[in-house]
Amino acid sequence: MAVISENFNPPESFFQNACRPEGEDGALMLDKMNVGHLKLAEWGFAHLQIKDDADILDIGCGGGANLKVHLAKSSRGTVTGIDYSPVSVEKSREYNLEAVSSGRCRVIEGNVAGLPFEDNSFDIITAFETVYFWPDIERSLAQVYRVLRKGGTFMICNEDGGETDKGEKWTKIIKGMTIYKPERLRRLLTEAGFTNIAVDTKDPDWLTVTAEKH
Ligand SMILES: C[S@@+](CC[C@H](N)C(=O)[O-])C[C@H]1O[C@@H](n2cnc3c(N)ncnc32)[C@H](O)[C@@H]1O
Repeated sequence: MAVISENFNPPESFFQNACRPEGEDGALMLDKMNVGHLKLAEWGFAHLQIKDDADILDIGCGGGANLKVHLAKSSRGTVTGIDYSPVSVEKSREYNLEAVSSGRCRVIEGNVAGLPFEDNSFDIITAFETVYFWPDIERSLAQVYRVLRKGGTFMICNEDGGETDKGEKWTKIIKGMTIYKPERLRRLLTEAGFTNIAVDTKDPDWLTVTAEKH
């Protein structure tokens, strides 16, 4: 897990906050993830072509670092973050305060299994380090498909691609966590209606999947 460093080795219970950050530990976890996920996110973003007027949704936006990157890339567009943790929503708002105050960024508390948006609302939808925790993956992907515009792209970016046994350690520690292998995600995305599904991997076990709606 990218939040562990030489000087930071918390008890196992701390890691439940990866699934749904809560309280002070949750806020600390979000600060750590904003830094610890930077390299993974940078690699993930390289798979996207984002127009400067794109309307973007980041699901499971956590501490909000990726909202800030989206805001820089879509300088004339809008950026929406959604997360079912009130602590994540608060942190994301704080992290992007200027854009939230000016109305170019909004952060909404909600669950991916019931996205509170009209059909065909976004050009780009991203999900960094979050699909592991989606309770009903089929229903959630159907929601993502519904709110994506035709011609739009959805991207999943995970630091655990299921090809090593380190993920298994985390699924034992974090309740409700599932590690998805690339082929399972490809199948699920196809069943949800997505096309042009592309998988990329990188050492140690990073995984990016992009999928389009046509
Ligand atoms: C490991 S954190 C990743 C945060 C951020 N995307 C990043 O890469 O640093 C997972 C985030 O997804 C959120 N999340 C998990 N399941 C969710 C769901 N069903 N609906 C909305 N948000 C969810 C959690 O609350 C948490 O903030």
